[in-house]
Amino acid sequence: MTRILAIETSCDETASALLEDAKKVLSNVVASQEVHSKFGGVVPELASRSHLENINFIIKKALDEAKIKIEDIDAIAFTSSPGLIGSLLIGQITAETISYIFGKKIIPVNHLEGHIYSSMIENKLIPPFLSLTVSGGHTDLVFVKDYGKYEILGRTRDDAAGEAFDKVAKLLNLKYPGGPEIEKNAKKGNPSAIDFPRPYMHDTWDFSFSGLKTAVLYYLKRIIKDHIPHPMVCDICASFQEAVIDTLVEKVSRAMKKFQISKLSLGGGVVSNARLRKKFKTMAKKERRKVYLPSSRYCTDNAAMIACAAYYKWKYAKPRTLDDLSVSSESKLISWRFE
Ligand code: KG4
Ligand code: ZN
Repeated sequence: MTRILAIETSCDETASALLEDAKKVLSNVVASQEVHSKFGGVVPELASRSHLENINFIIKKALDEAKIKIEDIDAIAFTSSPGLIGSLLIGQITAETISYIFGKKIIPVNHLEGHIYSSMIENKLIPPFLSLTVSGGHTDLVFVKDYGKYEILGRTRDDAAGEAFDKVAKLLNLKYPGGPEIEKNAKKGNPSAIDFPRPYMHDTWDFSFSGLKTAVLYYLKRIIKDHIPHPMVCDICASFQEAVIDTLVEKVSRAMKKFQISKLSLGGGVVSNARLRKKFKTMAKKERRKVYLPSSRYCTDNAAMIACAAYYKWKYAKPRTLDDLSVSSESKLISWRFE
């Protein structure tokens, strides 16, 4: 049995979790930084400061809830990239300090790997499978051939899906983060009310959501003078949300057929959207595929997914990969080095 304490500080969540192997979650603590809400987006300098204030307390809470002493862990994992550089550094320095003082193995984890492995915490999911990460910073379609062996099929060319949710929410004067607000309003709206474009981009596996966001902006400019009546906000939210989900489902369905992959794993904050989950399940049932979804608490940024990815890295990767401790804001997903 391997006990891994994980730290996640890549953006605006300070998180720590303690897992036994890949699946037994002894604790999963997340502190979301409220400070960004009034700015309508994450302010990097405030994020680093906030991580610095929270990190010791959050780690202590994760250990206390798990009823485990820090001396009794086997390894410390942290998110090394991608993310806000100042935020990543807080996680790295904390992990290195724990590693040094208590003599523990240190495991750097790519944040995107965390989202990829998040559906393995509760499900018996074994590679190969297709993975779609839909978050605030990423819309990544990855063929996971084996643990640590990735082929990136498509990525976002501009706004990530979650970013589009956040920006459309801002246009509608809704709070940040916009995804949950749009979902809440969409429940009272008609998804067919407005025929927003579906950016399918049939000649590539890449995604592009900025045109859809601009379509919402033009729609608002065209029909609304000053105040937007509430029923209209709900229809816009429902129609926009539907356009994003239809695009994702259609593209994933095509990729599964083309590459003959029967298992699909979803991850990232946007996957906590109930309508998205339902439509992916419907597609999977119709096309006889299997879809693996993490619970909502493992969709949005958390450290349990970092510990889960770290476990497999510890188990399968060679030391050379584990020894690369550099943090990076670059959003590349790199396969592990097997010798
Ligand atoms: O994975 P995540 O917590 O952080 C990143 O790695 O980016 O994802 C955050 C994103 C935000 O853009 C947020 O608006 C979106 O996920 N999100 C949602 C929902 N909950 C969070 N989008 C749509 N529906 C939701 N229920
Ligand atoms: Zn994330």
